[in-house]
Amino acid sequence: MTLPKLRIRHIEVDVPIIQGGMGVGISWENLAGAVARYGAIGVVSAVGTGYRHPDLVKRDKFGRPIGSENTHSPEALKRIIQDAKEIAGGRGAIGVNILCAITDYGRVARDAVEAGADLIISGAGLPMKLPQYVDGAEVALVPIVSSARALNLICRTWEKRYGRLPDAVVLEGPKSGGHQGFKYEDCFKPEYQLESLFPEVLEEAKRWGDIPVIVAGGVWSYHDIRWYIEHGAAGVQMATRFLATHECDAPLIYKETVLSAEEEDIILLKSPVGYPLRVIKTPFIERLLAGVNGWKGCVSHCVTPCNKGEEAKKVGFCIADRLGAAWLGNYEEGIFISGANGHRLKKQGMISVEELLDMLTGKVPDPTVEEDSVRITV
Ligand SMILES: Cc1cc2nc3c(=O)[nH]c(=O)nc-3n(C[C@H](O)[C@H](O)[C@H](O)COP(=O)(O)O)c2cc1C
Repeated sequence: MTLPKLRIRHIEVDVPIIQGGMGVGISWENLAGAVARYGAIGVVSAVGTGYRHPDLVKRDKFGRPIGSENTHSPEALKRIIQDAKEIAGGRGAIGVNILCAITDYGRVARDAVEAGADLIISGAGLPMKLPQYVDGAEVALVPIVSSARALNLICRTWEKRYGRLPDAVVLEGPKSGGHQGFKYEDCFKPEYQLESLFPEVLEEAKRWGDIPVIVAGGVWSYHDIRWYIEHGAAGVQMATRFLATHECDAPLIYKETVLSAEEEDIILLKSPVGYPLRVIKTPFIERLLAGVNGWKGCVSHCVTPCNKGEEAKKVGFCIADRLGAAWLGNYEEGIFISGANGHRLKKQGMISVEELLDMLTGKVPDPTVEEDSVRITV
């Protein structure tokens, strides 16, 4: 079966796969550009862009961008999007992932529009005011939800306040990398798994005029993608599999850390953003679990729920500093994110985005999947 095209508002791409936004710095111009060049949707992360172009921002003596304007820098985001589009060479589409929780959310959404993003994907909270910030610009708006209730609330609010509905919705289940839209204990319950949530979100999306539903969180193979598309999804969003690609913007040590992770090394942690965070057990996490508080003060003011460092102090780390350290290749001090399936990457090994997308579109065999398996693995 050839996978169908994906249509979201004015965007039409040949391959119904969105590469999920990964911050800090795991999906920037190189990964997103390569994915778009293949004919899919590449997504750059809007968080911590000051790390990508330190020459454009003010930093402290440790190299950390100072304040939200420098941490989530408009100039750096613009450069990343332009570079991604250049790599894409006019194919596919380039989206921007913006965490609802970041300080200056509205300003960053406007930055993304000015920089020429084709779509904005937004989660870690409900993007209730997103249409207001983009003010009629021709950009597709795609909230990330973890329930039909959340989708209903967004649709009701957007329709009433702005006369607009989401152009698509990402339903993200609790096997995804990074922050989870569920309570810790719910992440393990069968009724909160992606395949259980999918029918009711699909139903809710139909009620609002067939909003395309994109599924995310543990979707692994061509067979999984086919299964969801045959059951009504418009496409999938995937992230963890892209970690083991040459083009992924993470440093080599990041990719090696995921490639050597065992299933039991991938754990859920309390984060200053207020949601469980899925990470790999690395030296800093071991120290944290042993009771060491690694908070070193707040310079970035990166996310509002953290309350200028108050929550970070409680959970024992600053999310911007630790993800920034990982992006800088600091294995000892960084926090390294992975989806629950990260341990399966060993069988994939490091490959190019083109090779991976050939596997995910069923063109070539996938070494990580049993031959002839049509079992869904989410
Ligand atoms: C390293 C990493 C970083 C991530 N960072 C973000 C982020 O900044 N914002 C966001 O909305 N989702 C983030 N995610 C979630 C992905 O965009 C994606 O939806 C999810 O991981 C899909 O599940 P999968 O990894 O099992 O394919 C991240 C995922 C990973 C693996």
